[in-house]
Amino acid sequence: MQVVRTPDELSKAVLNRKGPVFLVPTMGYLHKGHASLIRMAAKDRDENKPKGTVVMSLFVNPTQFNDPQDLDKYPRDEEHDKRIAQEAGCDVIFAPPLEVVYPSGLQTTRIHVPKVSERWEGEHRPGHFDGVATIVAKLFHMVLPDYAYFGEKDWQQCRVIAKMVDDLNFPVYLKFGETVREDDGLAMSSRNALLRPEVRLKAPALHRAISQAAKAFSEGRPARICESDAAQAMLDAGFTKVDYVAIVDGMTLDPIDSPVPGVRVLAAAHIGGVRLIDNVAV
Ligand code: PAF
Repeated sequence: MQVVRTPDELSKAVLNRKGPVFLVPTMGYLHKGHASLIRMAAKDRDENKPKGTVVMSLFVNPTQFNDPQDLDKYPRDEEHDKRIAQEAGCDVIFAPPLEVVYPSGLQTTRIHVPKVSERWEGEHRPGHFDGVATIVAKLFHMVLPDYAYFGEKDWQQCRVIAKMVDDLNFPVYLKFGETVREDDGLAMSSRNALLRPEVRLKAPALHRAISQAAKAFSEGRPARICESDAAQAMLDAGFTKVDYVAIVDGMTLDPIDSPVPGVRVLAAAHIGGVRLIDNVAV
């Protein structure tokens, strides 16, 4: 596995191989969720003739952090990331420094994806999805992938990127990987490393609460009541603030009142100074 820092080095590394490029964008501090996306990409590479190249990008993108403290405390460990990426089947890590990605600083052209980016995370993290859409578009231009892989843990992010790809005609085929969970249900996330041990024990209440909301909604309980029950269950379990629990159409992310195919329950809440998000299907 090679580690490259610039688009030039990357294109040399990719051109030495034939076949498609399979991109897994990450901000590092890899966990089993990332590893499963890299394995998905490696499987697609191995089934293709000629095989092609799995590229994992590793870049903590400042323009998607609306809170500078959140950016400062974001965990980083490139050696650990190299090990996990290699074991999962990555061929090339593209880990550019800030000045390569944003050569003229952070006051840069930004992409705004209307509607799907504006609710939920969009309301609570102003500018977050503009930063995500912008960096993903830049990575698509720098890496020129044929396929790109994203985790469903960030359900709204998946919808934002899918709309951007449609709206701007990016010739990239998107693939989404299911959320990987710890044994107690907590969704794998780089931020879990920031949970103190006593807080970590309480954190699975988020997944329990939204799973219960999904079940109650499918059994006919009104959506808004399922949402407030779930928020209360999280607060009772030790979460300090619930940003939202939302029962939505999984594609448009609009709130819904009656069960239809493709419903998701989305939530974001704070515990021990860490903000966690999760979602489940109904
Ligand atoms: O999901 C992430 O880790 C990031 O939002 C992404 C897609 C790598 C863009 O920085």
